[in-house]
Amino acid sequence: MDYEKIIPITEPIAAARQSAKRHYGVHPYFTRRPSNVVRAYILNYTREGDRVLDPFGGSGVTAIEAFLENRTGIQNDINPLANFIARGIADLEKGNLSEYRDAIVALEGRCATVLDKLEKSDPKQIDTRRLKAALPRNVLLPENSDARYLFDLFEPSQLYGLGVLRFEIQRLPQPYVRNAMLLALSATVTKLNRTFLSAEGRAESRGGSSIFSIYRYKVAKAPVKLPLWQTFRERAENVVEAKAEIAKLIELKKRQPSGWHGSFEVLKSDVTDLPKVLREKVDYIFTDPPYGGHIAYLDLSTMWNAWLNILPSRAVGQKELIVGGDERHTEEAYIRRLGESVRASVAVLKPNRWMSIVFQHWNIAYFHAILASAAESGADLRAAVSQIGDPIWSMHKKKGSESVLAGEMILTFFNTGKPIGYETGRTIDLECEVQALTRDCEGPLYGEYLLNRIVLKAWERGATDSLNLSKEEFARILGDAGWRYSQTGHYWVKAGQQVALL
Ligand SMILES: C[S@@+](CC[C@H](N)C(=O)[O-])C[C@H]1O[C@@H](n2cnc3c(N)ncnc32)[C@H](O)[C@@H]1O
Repeated sequence: MDYEKIIPITEPIAAARQSAKRHYGVHPYFTRRPSNVVRAYILNYTREGDRVLDPFGGSGVTAIEAFLENRTGIQNDINPLANFIARGIADLEKGNLSEYRDAIVALEGRCATVLDKLEKSDPKQIDTRRLKAALPRNVLLPENSDARYLFDLFEPSQLYGLGVLRFEIQRLPQPYVRNAMLLALSATVTKLNRTFLSAEGRAESRGGSSIFSIYRYKVAKAPVKLPLWQTFRERAENVVEAKAEIAKLIELKKRQPSGWHGSFEVLKSDVTDLPKVLREKVDYIFTDPPYGGHIAYLDLSTMWNAWLNILPSRAVGQKELIVGGDERHTEEAYIRRLGESVRASVAVLKPNRWMSIVFQHWNIAYFHAILASAAESGADLRAAVSQIGDPIWSMHKKKGSESVLAGEMILTFFNTGKPIGYETGRTIDLECEVQALTRDCEGPLYGEYLLNRIVLKAWERGATDSLNLSKEEFARILGDAGWRYSQTGHYWVKAGQQVALL
């Protein structure tokens, strides 16, 4: 098979984010990529039996979709929580549905009454001596949290209730069923703590944790106390539904002539160590590195990593590719290490194979690090798609104004195996570029789309290393050119123009 003949994807694919039960409903994680988009990329750039790697794997969407499409899915992340979720979902392939259902019944018998009593008792009357042994380590939380220690995040009944559940889950005999129930427990921790805020006008249980909305442990003024057993049971049922979905997909594969032969591996390396760790090179990479300082993944995962007893060491934290966090990673180090990560990724990719990197940021220097390192390592940019304008994109846009970047650009490279020359040190006149790029555009114009086009133009002209573009400057240039931002449509329109919603 000649991989170079593969026609790259050049059009956006609308995200069907909530459709796969295996990714939505089992366990939350930060910035999960829509599985239908990831799957479309895997199917386009690889063949059955190929090895597909996600070096910044997160909750494992890439490796799980590759695995379910008869490839070898290789998940890598330095965050133990990410690997726990990814492995937990992939392992749902094992055993029968009835084993999972029986586990819920067994846990109900052992826990439901105890949890009910805990809920109804006066916190001062809870017999903590007996229950203390079931608790995790009371670790320090990230510095910017409202609470100092882990236990400060929980009402006594929540803390001891989760402890009882964890204790009983650990007694389940079958390892894969035990892990599935631990996945449900970990998802339950997300709901049973004082960062959980109820959404106005909706059922209390439909709210969310501040950890995912503002990326900080903000404690709610009026804590929501959801029922303990019922909250766990619902999460466990979601896991069972995901198990049923995976079993069905595998059953369909088994009926095809090539049969079912997907496999799944987990690595926990810093991306730059992958060339030392991977036994064999891979056929495709699809990855979504952290975007600067937006989300401090390891800090924010402390609550779950503590409950699961998989807290990473400080040395692991020092390897995280972010700006800021408790380790105070500098922007300079981020840019350098982003480039090193791209080089390490190309080093583990076979020649004549493809790599897709998902990215979005106002800082063009971050894009430069990706594009320049890819070129130096032999990866030639062949496609750049702006994933914007779909319902998920507008959901994110609603959170803010024109300065909020939602959606992302998917940059796809072909590994030629030989370094590719590129220009640097040039400049471009932003106002002229915006004029040229928007000249034939009647609107509406998506800000992200224009930004991505500017990045690509600057790269073509050798100016990504010198271009400094702030969101204020971007808005000013568009304003001066006669565009105004629509707060309802989240796009730019020519002043005076009426625009029908897309
Ligand atoms: C944007 S998230 C990936 C989300 C993923 N696409 C998904 O669908 O769930 C980036 C991931 O990179 C991981 N990470 C950060 N620094 C890393 C490093 N040096 N090596 C490996 N993984 C790292 C973080 O823990 C985080 O899970």
